[in-house]
Amino acid sequence: MQYRTLAATLLASATLAAAQFKVNVPSANDWWVAKSQNVLTWACQDSAAPQEFTVLIGNSDPTVLVQPLAIIAIQKNYDCSIIITQDQANQAAGTGYQVYLANPINNTDVYAVSESFEIKPLGSLYPTQQAAQASSASAAAASASASASAAATTDDKNGAVSVKAAGLVAGAVGVVAGLAAML
Ligand SMILES: *[C@@H]1O[C@H](CO)[C@@H](O)[C@H](O)[C@H]1NC(C)=O
Repeated sequence: MQYRTLAATLLASATLAAAQFKVNVPSANDWWVAKSQNVLTWACQDSAAPQEFTVLIGNSDPTVLVQPLAIIAIQKNYDCSIIITQDQANQAAGTGYQVYLANPINNTDVYAVSESFEIKPLGSLYPTQQAAQASSASAAAASASASASAAATTDDKNGAVSVKAAGLVAGAVGVVAGLAAML
């Protein structure tokens, strides 16, 4: 028992030690949207986190950005996350972007780099909105198929009504399928 507790403690501290100061959002799965407000979050609780840093944005393609561009001169670590407005960063839609958190007095001394991420065109859904829409679309599809089976079992007396109701339900399922395909 005692041994198992010790092992668990060691495992937990190894996991902690493996954690490091890093950018959480944006990432490969958490894109930004052009000409919009975007979220930046980082591992502010990490023991290696500096007290403050400069935020820069760069792109792997030098024709997009020749070199990383500072978008916030001094950012305090304790904020943990911030909203970046289109006045602070106004990059064109595209892929290959990365956010850098760097030493304010020497921007080539980089503390953390984000994963490569995409800036989607103005009007695109944010990752959280897209996830919400996908789950409401599947909920709608589930409820549509529930009403389809209800119609099939309760409208036996009148064949004509039954067919019409089934057609309406099929139409609703088609709309939902179309929405899902657009995602
Ligand atoms: C800035 O940081 C880089 C990377 O850590 C280092 O190589 C360079 O010497 C630093 N420059 C100055 C002026 O301290």
